Amino acid sequence: MAKIVAGVGSSHVPAIGAALDNGKTEEPYWKRVFSGFEKSKKWMAETKPDVAIVVYNDHASAFSVEMIPTFALGCAAEFPPADEGWGPRPVPVVEGHPALAAHIAQSVILDEFDLTIVNKMEVDHGLTVPMNLLFGQPKDHWPCPVIPLAVNVVMYPPPTGHRCYMLGKAIRKAVESYPEDLKVVIFGTGGLSHQISGPRAGLINSKWDKAFLDGLSKDPKKLTRIPHIEYMREAGAEGIEMVMWLIMRGALDDKVDEVYRFYTVPASNTAVGHIILENKHKAAGKGKRAAARKGAAHKGRLAAAAKTTHRIASKGTR
Ligand code: DHB
Ligand code: FE
Repeated sequence: MAKIVAGVGSSHVPAIGAALDNGKTEEPYWKRVFSGFEKSKKWMAETKPDVAIVVYNDHASAFSVEMIPTFALGCAAEFPPADEGWGPRPVPVVEGHPALAAHIAQSVILDEFDLTIVNKMEVDHGLTVPMNLLFGQPKDHWPCPVIPLAVNVVMYPPPTGHRCYMLGKAIRKAVESYPEDLKVVIFGTGGLSHQISGPRAGLINSKWDKAFLDGLSKDPKKLTRIPHIEYMREAGAEGIEMVMWLIMRGALDDKVDEVYRFYTVPASNTAVGHIILENKHKAAGKGKRAAARKGAAHKGRLAAAAKTTHRIASKGTR
């Protein structure tokens, strides 16, 4: 069975990508930011996930005002880096995991979350910057396949924090009903507080950000009740990106081990936040057996649904 072992929260400030691509990581301004991810890169290299699910937002690179999916799951075999105005970033093409992605799509949609399935998509700094921060700068290949989940936080209305949290739970159920033994890490990206335009441009609210990180670690349910207006008021217009961290959190155990946290201000216009949360490793026992039974029942329902889909498809071709 596949298993989500940990969640990673990370900002995705595009200037971090530019600093990496232009060899500025040793400059004092940027060293302060990158030094906060040294332990994380070691943790990731030791954790060695088989797959990463990266929850991020597209910044009008793959989508535009013409089409705004609320939740778009990347089911393709590869996702090239997008040209965001100065050519695609010099990072490897992101390789997908079409089989697990299709399984998640089926499970989550049958669980009544209406995802958009995306079979062709370019990925922007929202995904590639957190990848660099956790996996470094590989030349040719990222160390594991990635399933991108793009969330609309650009055009009103984005999904609520509660909806995001519940989607995380549905993703976990999907992953745990996948038969292959895969170690999965899930990323929540974006934030923390920032506002890029208007009279409040440059707004940063460290107190609010730190309370959000505390809540993520200890009391995520409380965070799910934060309304959009509070994110906007307290964390700036772009601070709404933080709802995406609740998808990551929903996919983890209720109680987690916080293994690392980093916070620095600023990078570009933004407060950089980062957290690593691990699921507690439960010993085999009643709980685990009950979970396995639940997983088997869910798998059975998925198989039955797949048969029905097949019947409908073959009727259509007659
Ligand atoms: C900035 C931060 C973002 O999250 C983003 O998507 C674009 C710009 C910034 O700090 O400039
Ligand atoms: Fe952003």
